[in-house]
Amino acid sequence: MIVTTTKLFQTAYGKFAVGAYNINNLEQTMGLFRGNLQSQAPFILQISKGARSYTHKTMLEGLIRSADDIFPESVFAVHLDHGDEETCYDCINSGFYSSVMIDASHEDFETNIAITKRVVDAAHAKGVVVEAELGMLGGVEEHVAVEEADAKLTDPDQALEFVERTGIDSLACAIGTSHGAFKFSGTQGLRFDVLEEIQKNLPGFPLVMHGSSSVPQEEVKRINDAGGKLLGAKGVDADQFKRASELGVTKINIDTDGRLVWTRVHREFFNEKPENFDLRPPGKVFMTAYADFIAAKNVYLGSAGQLEKIREILG
Ligand code: 13P
Repeated sequence: MIVTTTKLFQTAYGKFAVGAYNINNLEQTMGLFRGNLQSQAPFILQISKGARSYTHKTMLEGLIRSADDIFPESVFAVHLDHGDEETCYDCINSGFYSSVMIDASHEDFETNIAITKRVVDAAHAKGVVVEAELGMLGGVEEHVAVEEADAKLTDPDQALEFVERTGIDSLACAIGTSHGAFKFSGTQGLRFDVLEEIQKNLPGFPLVMHGSSSVPQEEVKRINDAGGKLLGAKGVDADQFKRASELGVTKINIDTDGRLVWTRVHREFFNEKPENFDLRPPGKVFMTAYADFIAAKNVYLGSAGQLEKIREILG
Protein backbone atom coordinates (compact mmCIF):
# COMPACT_ATOMS: atom_id res chain seq x y z
CA MET A 1 0.00 0.00 0.00
CA ILE A 2 1.41 3.37 -1.03
CA VAL A 3 0.99 6.03 1.69
CA THR A 4 2.31 9.51 2.38
CA THR A 5 4.92 9.79 5.11
CA THR A 6 2.58 11.72 7.45
CA LYS A 7 1.27 8.79 9.52
CA LEU A 8 4.60 6.98 9.32
CA PHE A 9 6.37 9.98 10.84
CA GLN A 10 3.70 10.58 13.49
CA THR A 11 4.03 6.98 14.63
CA ALA A 12 7.82 6.99 14.47
CA TYR A 13 8.52 10.37 16.09
CA GLY A 14 10.89 10.10 19.06
CA LYS A 15 10.87 6.31 18.92
CA PHE A 16 12.26 5.00 15.66
CA ALA A 17 13.20 6.05 12.14
CA VAL A 18 11.76 4.80 8.88
CA GLY A 19 14.36 3.50 6.42
CA ALA A 20 14.45 5.34 3.09
CA TYR A 21 16.08 3.14 0.47
CA ASN A 22 16.93 4.02 -3.14
CA ILE A 23 16.09 1.68 -5.98
CA ASN A 24 17.17 1.53 -9.63
CA ASN A 25 16.15 -1.85 -10.94
CA LEU A 26 14.12 -5.03 -10.59
CA GLU A 27 16.53 -6.88 -8.30
CA GLN A 28 16.74 -4.00 -5.81
CA THR A 29 12.96 -3.66 -5.86
CA MET A 30 12.39 -7.33 -5.09
CA GLY A 31 15.07 -7.39 -2.38
CA LEU A 32 13.69 -4.22 -0.83
CA PHE A 33 10.11 -5.46 -0.55
CA ARG A 34 11.22 -8.87 0.69
CA GLY A 35 13.55 -7.42 3.31
CA ASN A 36 10.92 -5.08 4.68
CA LEU A 37 8.36 -7.85 4.95
CA GLN A 38 10.95 -10.18 6.45
CA SER A 39 11.47 -7.59 9.19
CA GLN A 40 7.82 -6.40 9.25
CA ALA A 41 8.78 -2.78 8.65
CA PRO A 42 7.11 0.12 6.86
CA PHE A 43 9.55 1.88 4.55
CA ILE A 44 10.17 4.71 2.11
CA LEU A 45 11.13 3.81 -1.41
CA GLN A 46 13.31 6.53 -2.90
CA ILE A 47 13.78 7.32 -6.55
CA SER A 48 16.46 9.76 -7.62
CA LYS A 49 16.55 11.77 -10.82
CA GLY A 50 19.34 9.47 -12.04
CA ALA A 51 17.24 6.37 -11.34
CA ARG A 52 14.32 7.87 -13.29
CA SER A 53 16.51 8.23 -16.37
CA TYR A 54 18.52 4.99 -15.96
CA THR A 55 15.87 3.03 -17.81
CA HIS A 56 12.71 5.09 -17.88
CA LYS A 57 10.60 6.66 -15.14
CA THR A 58 7.58 4.66 -16.38
CA MET A 59 9.55 1.42 -16.07
CA LEU A 60 10.30 2.17 -12.39
CA GLU A 61 6.67 3.03 -11.75
CA GLY A 62 5.60 -0.26 -13.35
CA LEU A 63 8.09 -2.20 -11.20
CA ILE A 64 6.83 -0.60 -8.02
CA ARG A 65 3.15 -1.05 -8.87
CA SER A 66 3.86 -4.73 -9.60
CA ALA A 67 5.75 -5.13 -6.32
CA ASP A 68 2.77 -3.59 -4.53
CA ASP A 69 0.55 -6.30 -6.08
CA ILE A 70 3.00 -9.10 -5.32
CA PHE A 71 3.53 -7.97 -1.69
CA PRO A 72 0.09 -6.60 -0.67
CA GLU A 73 1.04 -6.48 3.02
CA SER A 74 3.72 -3.81 2.38
CA VAL A 75 3.24 -0.24 3.57
CA PHE A 76 5.51 2.30 1.91
CA ALA A 77 5.82 5.84 0.60
CA VAL A 78 7.08 6.55 -2.92
CA HIS A 79 9.49 9.46 -2.63
CA LEU A 80 11.51 11.54 -5.10
CA ASP A 81 15.04 11.90 -3.70
CA HIS A 82 16.89 15.22 -4.30
CA GLY A 83 14.48 16.67 -6.83
CA ASP A 84 14.89 19.92 -8.71
CA GLU A 85 11.78 22.03 -9.20
CA GLU A 86 10.89 20.63 -12.63
CA THR A 87 11.27 16.99 -11.56
CA CYS A 88 9.18 17.68 -8.44
CA TYR A 89 6.30 18.96 -10.59
CA ASP A 90 6.58 15.96 -12.88
CA CYS A 91 6.34 13.60 -9.88
CA ILE A 92 3.54 15.57 -8.22
CA ASN A 93 1.49 15.59 -11.42
CA SER A 94 2.13 11.88 -12.10
CA GLY A 95 -0.31 10.92 -9.34
CA PHE A 96 2.11 8.13 -8.39
CA TYR A 97 4.56 9.70 -5.96
CA SER A 98 3.28 10.29 -2.43
CA SER A 99 6.26 12.42 -1.39
CA VAL A 100 8.88 14.60 -3.05
CA MET A 101 12.11 16.20 -1.90
CA ILE A 102 12.90 19.61 -3.31
CA ASP A 103 16.61 20.20 -2.88
CA ALA A 104 17.40 23.88 -3.32
CA SER A 105 19.93 23.76 -0.47
CA HIS A 106 22.70 25.05 -2.78
CA GLU A 107 20.76 28.31 -3.25
CA ASP A 108 20.85 31.22 -0.80
CA PHE A 109 18.34 31.15 2.07
CA GLU A 110 15.68 33.34 0.44
CA THR A 111 15.85 31.54 -2.91
CA ASN A 112 15.68 28.15 -1.16
CA ILE A 113 12.54 29.36 0.64
CA ALA A 114 10.93 30.71 -2.55
CA ILE A 115 11.55 27.54 -4.61
CA THR A 116 10.54 25.24 -1.78
CA LYS A 117 7.33 27.18 -1.12
CA ARG A 118 6.29 26.91 -4.79
CA VAL A 119 6.80 23.15 -4.69
CA VAL A 120 4.93 22.84 -1.38
CA ASP A 121 1.92 24.71 -2.80
CA ALA A 122 1.79 22.49 -5.88
CA ALA A 123 2.33 19.29 -3.87
CA HIS A 124 -0.17 19.97 -1.12
CA ALA A 125 -2.83 20.78 -3.70
CA LYS A 126 -2.48 17.16 -4.84
CA GLY A 127 -2.08 15.53 -1.41
CA VAL A 128 1.67 14.99 -1.85
CA VAL A 129 4.03 15.73 1.06
CA VAL A 130 7.34 17.62 0.77
CA GLU A 131 10.81 17.26 2.27
CA ALA A 132 13.32 20.06 1.79
CA GLU A 133 16.92 20.62 2.85
CA LEU A 134 18.58 23.40 4.76
CA GLY A 135 22.34 23.38 5.15
CA MET A 136 24.34 21.27 2.73
CA LEU A 137 25.77 17.76 2.96
CA GLY A 138 29.19 17.05 1.50
CA GLY A 139 29.95 14.11 -0.79
CA VAL A 140 28.76 12.91 -4.16
CA GLU A 141 25.36 11.57 -4.99
CA GLU A 142 24.63 11.31 -8.68
CA HIS A 143 24.09 14.86 -9.95
CA VAL A 144 24.64 16.34 -6.47
CA ALA A 145 28.36 16.84 -5.76
CA VAL A 146 29.44 19.04 -2.88
CA GLU A 147 33.06 19.59 -1.84
CA GLU A 148 33.65 19.01 1.89
CA ALA A 149 34.76 22.66 2.20
CA ASP A 150 31.37 23.81 0.87
CA ALA A 151 29.32 21.52 3.10
CA LYS A 152 27.35 23.52 5.66
CA LEU A 153 25.64 22.36 8.82
CA THR A 154 22.00 23.33 9.30
CA ASP A 155 21.55 26.51 11.32
CA PRO A 156 18.99 25.65 14.05
CA ASP A 157 17.57 29.20 14.12
CA GLN A 158 17.13 29.34 10.37
CA ALA A 159 15.47 25.91 10.51
CA LEU A 160 12.44 27.26 12.37
CA GLU A 161 12.01 30.16 9.96
CA PHE A 162 12.49 27.86 6.97
CA VAL A 163 9.79 25.45 8.13
CA GLU A 164 7.35 28.22 9.01
CA ARG A 165 7.76 30.12 5.76
CA THR A 166 7.73 27.11 3.41
CA GLY A 167 5.10 24.87 5.02
CA ILE A 168 7.18 21.73 4.36
CA ASP A 169 6.30 18.40 5.98
CA SER A 170 9.81 17.28 6.93
CA LEU A 171 13.26 18.85 7.06
CA ALA A 172 16.51 17.30 5.85
CA CYS A 173 19.25 18.52 8.17
CA ALA A 174 22.97 18.56 7.57
CA ILE A 175 24.51 17.32 10.82
CA GLY A 176 27.90 16.06 9.71
CA THR A 177 27.09 13.15 7.41
CA SER A 178 27.87 13.13 3.70
CA HIS A 179 26.70 11.17 0.68
CA GLY A 180 28.71 8.26 -0.67
CA ALA A 181 31.17 5.69 0.70
CA PHE A 182 33.80 8.10 2.05
CA LYS A 183 32.32 9.92 5.02
CA PHE A 184 33.95 11.73 7.91
CA SER A 185 37.20 12.43 6.09
CA GLY A 186 38.14 14.79 8.92
CA THR A 187 37.69 14.03 12.59
CA GLN A 188 34.08 15.12 12.78
CA GLY A 189 31.29 12.69 13.59
CA LEU A 190 27.54 13.11 13.84
CA ARG A 191 26.71 16.50 15.35
CA PHE A 192 24.06 15.57 17.89
CA ASP A 193 24.53 18.98 19.51
CA VAL A 194 23.23 20.65 16.33
CA LEU A 195 20.39 18.13 16.03
CA GLU A 196 19.39 18.80 19.63
CA GLU A 197 19.16 22.55 18.93
CA ILE A 198 17.07 21.93 15.81
CA GLN A 199 14.68 19.71 17.78
CA LYS A 200 14.39 22.36 20.50
CA ASN A 201 13.32 24.90 17.88
CA LEU A 202 11.04 22.48 16.06
CA PRO A 203 9.54 20.17 18.69
CA GLY A 204 7.54 17.33 17.17
CA PHE A 205 8.59 18.19 13.62
CA PRO A 206 9.92 15.26 11.51
CA LEU A 207 13.62 15.55 10.67
CA VAL A 208 15.51 13.63 8.01
CA MET A 209 19.07 12.37 8.02
CA HIS A 210 20.69 11.96 4.60
CA GLY A 211 24.04 10.31 3.95
CA SER A 212 23.43 7.62 6.54
CA SER A 213 24.95 4.51 5.01
CA SER A 214 27.14 2.63 7.45
CA VAL A 215 29.60 1.43 4.80
CA PRO A 216 30.16 -1.84 6.73
CA GLN A 217 33.88 -2.61 6.88
CA GLU A 218 33.24 -6.31 6.33
CA GLU A 219 31.46 -5.44 3.07
CA VAL A 220 34.31 -3.14 1.98
CA LYS A 221 36.90 -5.82 2.80
CA ARG A 222 35.04 -8.45 0.77
CA ILE A 223 34.79 -6.07 -2.19
CA ASN A 224 38.48 -5.26 -2.00
CA ASP A 225 39.44 -8.93 -1.56
CA ALA A 226 37.49 -9.67 -4.74
CA GLY A 227 39.39 -7.05 -6.76
CA GLY A 228 37.70 -3.80 -5.68
CA LYS A 229 39.54 -0.61 -4.78
CA LEU A 230 37.52 1.10 -2.08
CA LEU A 231 40.32 2.34 0.10
CA GLY A 232 39.45 4.31 3.21
CA ALA A 233 35.68 3.90 2.77
CA LYS A 234 33.70 4.55 5.96
CA GLY A 235 30.22 5.50 7.08
CA VAL A 236 27.84 6.29 9.93
CA ASP A 237 27.78 4.01 12.97
CA ALA A 238 24.33 2.38 12.83
CA ASP A 239 24.27 2.28 16.65
CA GLN A 240 23.75 6.06 16.48
CA PHE A 241 20.39 5.78 14.68
CA LYS A 242 18.55 5.31 17.96
CA ARG A 243 19.88 8.53 19.47
CA ALA A 244 19.05 10.37 16.23
CA SER A 245 15.46 9.12 16.31
CA GLU A 246 15.09 10.23 19.94
CA LEU A 247 16.09 13.69 18.72
CA GLY A 248 13.33 13.81 16.10
CA VAL A 249 14.84 12.04 13.09
CA THR A 250 12.03 10.01 11.54
CA LYS A 251 13.60 9.21 8.15
CA ILE A 252 17.09 7.87 7.54
CA ASN A 253 18.41 7.69 3.96
CA ILE A 254 20.46 4.72 2.85
CA ASP A 255 21.64 4.26 -0.72
CA THR A 256 25.40 3.58 -0.79
CA ASP A 257 25.16 0.48 1.42
CA GLY A 258 22.80 -1.13 -1.11
CA ARG A 259 25.28 -0.44 -3.90
CA LEU A 260 28.02 -2.03 -1.80
CA VAL A 261 25.94 -5.19 -1.38
CA TRP A 262 25.43 -5.27 -5.17
CA THR A 263 29.15 -4.80 -5.85
CA ARG A 264 30.23 -7.41 -3.32
CA VAL A 265 27.79 -10.04 -4.62
CA HIS A 266 28.75 -9.56 -8.25
CA ARG A 267 32.50 -9.32 -7.69
CA GLU A 268 32.55 -12.43 -5.54
CA PHE A 269 30.18 -14.34 -7.81
CA PHE A 270 32.17 -13.85 -10.99
CA ASN A 271 35.49 -14.30 -9.20
CA GLU A 272 34.36 -17.67 -7.90
CA LYS A 273 32.70 -18.70 -11.17
CA PRO A 274 34.74 -17.11 -13.95
CA GLU A 275 33.20 -19.45 -16.50
CA ASN A 276 29.69 -18.16 -15.72
CA PHE A 277 28.01 -15.53 -17.90
CA ASP A 278 24.38 -15.81 -16.84
CA LEU A 279 22.82 -12.78 -15.14
CA ARG A 280 20.16 -14.64 -13.18
CA PRO A 281 22.32 -16.64 -10.71
CA PRO A 282 24.09 -13.55 -9.29
CA GLY A 283 20.77 -11.67 -9.48
CA LYS A 284 19.20 -14.29 -7.22
CA VAL A 285 22.09 -14.12 -4.76
CA PHE A 286 21.80 -10.34 -4.74
CA MET A 287 18.04 -10.28 -4.10
CA THR A 288 18.48 -12.52 -1.06
CA ALA A 289 21.53 -10.63 0.20
CA TYR A 290 19.78 -7.28 -0.25
CA ALA A 291 16.65 -8.50 1.55
CA ASP A 292 18.80 -9.69 4.46
CA PHE A 293 20.67 -6.38 4.50
CA ILE A 294 17.40 -4.38 4.62
CA ALA A 295 15.96 -6.57 7.37
CA ALA A 296 19.10 -6.15 9.48
CA LYS A 297 19.19 -2.37 8.90
CA ASN A 298 15.58 -2.02 10.00
CA VAL A 299 16.52 -3.50 13.36
CA TYR A 300 19.03 -0.67 13.88
CA LEU A 301 16.46 1.89 12.73
CA GLY A 302 13.85 0.49 15.10
CA SER A 303 11.33 0.15 12.25
CA ALA A 304 11.48 -3.65 12.33
CA GLY A 305 8.27 -5.04 13.81
CA GLN A 306 6.28 -1.79 13.35
CA LEU A 307 4.25 -2.89 10.32
CA GLU A 308 1.24 -4.26 12.15
CA LYS A 309 0.88 -1.13 14.26
CA ILE A 310 1.13 1.10 11.18
CA ARG A 311 -1.46 -0.96 9.35
CA GLU A 312 -3.84 -0.56 12.32
CA ILE A 313 -3.29 3.20 12.41
CA LEU A 314 -3.87 3.49 8.68
CA GLY A 315 -7.07 1.48 9.10
P1 13P B 1 24.30 7.44 1.48
O1 13P B 1 25.20 7.82 0.35
O2 13P B 1 25.00 7.53 2.80
O3 13P B 1 23.67 6.12 1.29
O4 13P B 1 23.12 8.51 1.53
C1 13P B 1 22.03 8.41 0.66
C2 13P B 1 21.15 9.58 0.70
O5 13P B 1 21.22 10.42 1.57
C3 13P B 1 20.13 9.69 -0.37
O6 13P B 1 19.50 10.92 -0.36
